[in-house]
Amino acid sequence: MGAFTGRTILITGASEGIGRALALELARAGANLVLAARNARRLEAASGECAALGAQVETVVTDVACPRDCVRCVERAVTRFGGLDALVNNAGITMWARFEDVSDLRVFERLMQVNVLGSARMTAAALPHLKTTRGLLVAVASIAGLTGVPERTGYAASKHAMVGFFESLRIELRGSGVDVTIIAPDFVVSQIHRRAIGADGEPLGQTPMDEPRIMSAERCAALIAGAMRRRQRLLITSARGRFARWARLVAPALVDQLSARAIRERR
Ligand SMILES: NC(=O)c1ccc[n+]([C@@H]2O[C@H](COP(=O)([O-])OP(=O)(O)OC[C@H]3O[C@@H](n4cnc5c(N)ncnc54)[C@H](OP(=O)(O)O)[C@@H]3O)[C@@H](O)[C@H]2O)c1
Repeated sequence: MGAFTGRTILITGASEGIGRALALELARAGANLVLAARNARRLEAASGECAALGAQVETVVTDVACPRDCVRCVERAVTRFGGLDALVNNAGITMWARFEDVSDLRVFERLMQVNVLGSARMTAAALPHLKTTRGLLVAVASIAGLTGVPERTGYAASKHAMVGFFESLRIELRGSGVDVTIIAPDFVVSQIHRRAIGADGEPLGQTPMDEPRIMSAERCAALIAGAMRRRQRLLITSARGRFARWARLVAPALVDQLSARAIRERR
């Protein structure tokens, strides 16, 4: 029996991109899935694909920026499957604009609401159930949560906040049996770049990324599933991300240059 067989795993942002790919990966591994996102149609499509792989699936239309939705989502998971073994805080949004060009700072509030407070709310609702099962908390942060990234000030701030929150919570949870796995993906092909909020507060509409040269959502999902299986503390998905983590201790200006180049070259 595999590590995920019969386990109940709730994934936020499961209708597209990394969350959807992870749902499919875990469906293949025999998990019971609770899929959450705002768009019901896309959620049902993802659910159908997981069910076709043999998974039992519950979909819950959820806006993680809404406190009531978060509580209801976890309640639905527990009612349907009798408990919760893992929560994957994956729902997220991003921006793409230099700070000085952002005219309305409400975009920063939105980034914090979804990326940080959404994760905290879902975690608060899920924690009593995860303690019962000695389960796993997963935070899909970003390498932008470990280093600065130009044109992403608000996003990097939100991802640093996520990392700080989950690193702190891990210490509080020592001895509880609940582990915390932080995921720091490098660029991944998904919808997030097309939807990134630009300087005018509107989505970019098309991806600025050099997509053939960045990681697929499927590959990222397979790495996340591996980290979950090992209950790993931190997964950085790229060699340059792992290099930057150590290089910044001795050559921080070099890491700034690498970060600026990644954005310039869009990969
Ligand atoms: N792609 C990358 O390059 C990359 C790199 C590092 C980290 N990440 C992180 O990976 C995570 C997944 O992103 P992705 O790249 O897979 O993006 P994506 O393709 O845009 O998918 C984002 C998912 O989050 C959901 N979502 C957005 N706002 C939500 C809200 N308020 N409440 C509930 N669900 C919400 C979306 O569904 P609805 O719109 O229907 O709600 C969708 O299912 C994010 O946390 C992101 O920051 C991505």
